[in-house]
Amino acid sequence: MRKKITVIGAGNVGATAAHCCLRRELGEIVLVDVTGNIPEGKALDLAQAAVLEGHAARVRGTADYADTAGSDIVIITAGVSRKPGMSRDDLLKTNLDIVTRVTAQAAEHSPEALFIIASNPVDVMCGAALQAGHVPCRRIVGLSGVLDAARMRAFIAGYAGVPLEAVQGMVIGEHGEFMVPLPRLASINGIPAPVLLTAGQLEDVRKSTVSGGAGIVSLLGYSAYYAPGMALATMVEALLNDSGNILPCSVYLENRYGARGIFMCVPARLNAQGVEEIIELELDEAEKTALDRSIANIGSNMAKAGLNPA
Ligand code: 2OP
Repeated sequence: MRKKITVIGAGNVGATAAHCCLRRELGEIVLVDVTGNIPEGKALDLAQAAVLEGHAARVRGTADYADTAGSDIVIITAGVSRKPGMSRDDLLKTNLDIVTRVTAQAAEHSPEALFIIASNPVDVMCGAALQAGHVPCRRIVGLSGVLDAARMRAFIAGYAGVPLEAVQGMVIGEHGEFMVPLPRLASINGIPAPVLLTAGQLEDVRKSTVSGGAGIVSLLGYSAYYAPGMALATMVEALLNDSGNILPCSVYLENRYGARGIFMCVPARLNAQGVEEIIELELDEAEKTALDRSIANIGSNMAKAGLNPA
């Protein structure tokens, strides 16, 4: 039975995520936006691209949430994105109302769906989605570490002089300036990164990963979308294929990693029901301190949003 994937927000990230999901033949796409004829136009464009990509794409654009009914997964990218000089936290007030509204509308038509939140600040937006969607917390995951770890892996590959696919790595914590890249635990085909990179290079990798998103915003004048879109498709694939894959995602934490009642990025095993298991990592003192800063910042932003941790 073909899966149904709704993407809310037909901007750069949403449309790229739709394209990546179609190319991986993960299911039919419903692209939702309230901006004029954008969803219909992009859906038509995606369908015509599929002719040349050799897959039978079923994709439609709409402003009507009734068209999303019965979705297996809902990706929420709606909201404003950063401009140069802005932090993700600066988007909180604007995106809180938008994510709350669209999550409620989507959940009304697809009460059994899995939800992937990409709108920023994503950890708080996941909390908003939990409150608005009335879906179990295990069915909500945020786009965070899959994207940040992709950036970290690319930086490590550059220093190590190896192909990108040779590098595996993990980023945890908030999807923001207090994120916690873990180059110490990264590997190049099983070789620990500290064997091939100097301490200075590892620190540069850490800093470059933290500023990876802002770096692209400063170059483009708006947020990245190729890597976020691909990262979303990677999460969709892990969930819809009941893969059991362990990915760094923003998930609901209840007394795990020192966090309580917030969403934050940690290694999570994903299956068709959502988050199956949270994996605990052995962190060093610097990493624990950095993670505590993440927890504090997410908690502070949750309070600003009126979403006090449960
Ligand atoms: C990024 O890091 C949009 O937050 C996303 O590019």
